[in-house]
Amino acid sequence: DWTPDSFVEETVEAIQEKVGGDKVVLGLSGGVDSTVAAVLLNKAIGDNLYCIFVNNGLLRKDEFESVLKQYEGMGLNVKGVDASDRFLDALKGIEDPELKRKAIGNAFIEVFDDEAHKLTDVKWLAQGTIYPDVIESVSATGGPSATIKSHHNVGGLPDFMKLKIVEPLRAIFKDEVRRVGATLGIDPELLGRHPFPGPGLGIRILGDITAEKVRILQEVDAIFINGLKSWGLYDKVWQAGAMLLPVNSVGVMGDERTYEKCVALRAVESTDGMTADWVNLPYEFLQKTSNDIINKVKGVNRVVYDISSKPPATIEWE
Ligand code: XMP
Repeated sequence: DWTPDSFVEETVEAIQEKVGGDKVVLGLSGGVDSTVAAVLLNKAIGDNLYCIFVNNGLLRKDEFESVLKQYEGMGLNVKGVDASDRFLDALKGIEDPELKRKAIGNAFIEVFDDEAHKLTDVKWLAQGTIYPDVIESVSATGGPSATIKSHHNVGGLPDFMKLKIVEPLRAIFKDEVRRVGATLGIDPELLGRHPFPGPGLGIRILGDITAEKVRILQEVDAIFINGLKSWGLYDKVWQAGAMLLPVNSVGVMGDERTYEKCVALRAVESTDGMTADWVNLPYEFLQKTSNDIINKVKGVNRVVYDISSKPPATIEWE
């Protein structure tokens, strides 16, 4: 019988046998899979696990600082690398969604490779790959690991790609990963987080990306997500987020005419992201959220709610 406890026990032994006293490097994304993989490996080999958590500047508001603190509190040997400027530079002027993904993926590989080079004698690359990633092979979800896999054919292999691979979650599904995480004592709030794309807010800012647009979208997203939490709606939704549209529209504020940005809110129900239905959020919630956004976020004067299902619409707008 599969139980999270027996899985942890067997996997810890298997990791110890496999990597022995070698050093292992792992990219943390803030997501469930990489976190559970890190805690498992840490249990098996302690500080021989070197975690790297990269801020690509496209994370949710305050997420880099708060998640990094959380990782440290969990006893992980983790280095936070703030590479926001490097990603913003790499993205300058790029409007095409696939080119954005490439630019973000390549910047991630460069930053990760630079950091991995600072560690001496690393023999293994650990990844939070889970079973659905294995079957899909080019996974749509997942953070650094998916990024690494889908970009390994760009411009020759970075050095860390030549490392041997250890993937302790390779044989299990998401719900099992969450149960393993709970057994390991990981914060339930972290385990219950919505999926978040590797390219982050970069694919939720339609058109080109600037620091100011990132700031606006982070504010909007925080109001929406915190609202879902305080209204008890967060756990009823599979994924939620906001899109910054490349559209200005006319509004009025006091006696003044405004001409500012429009944001779209999106919340979906799904089991695996392959199909999805928009969520029928309460009108009172949408009303309050829209007011909060328009009153508090400078540069936004209009909020719309996305009522498209997948297919034919995708979850992300890019
Ligand atoms: P779509 O937009 O294709 O999204 O309906 C399905 C799921 O995949 C996530 N997604 C991504 N995740 N890199 C990722 O790591 C990406 O480039 C990417 N694009 C979409 C999306 O957030 C949703 O959960």
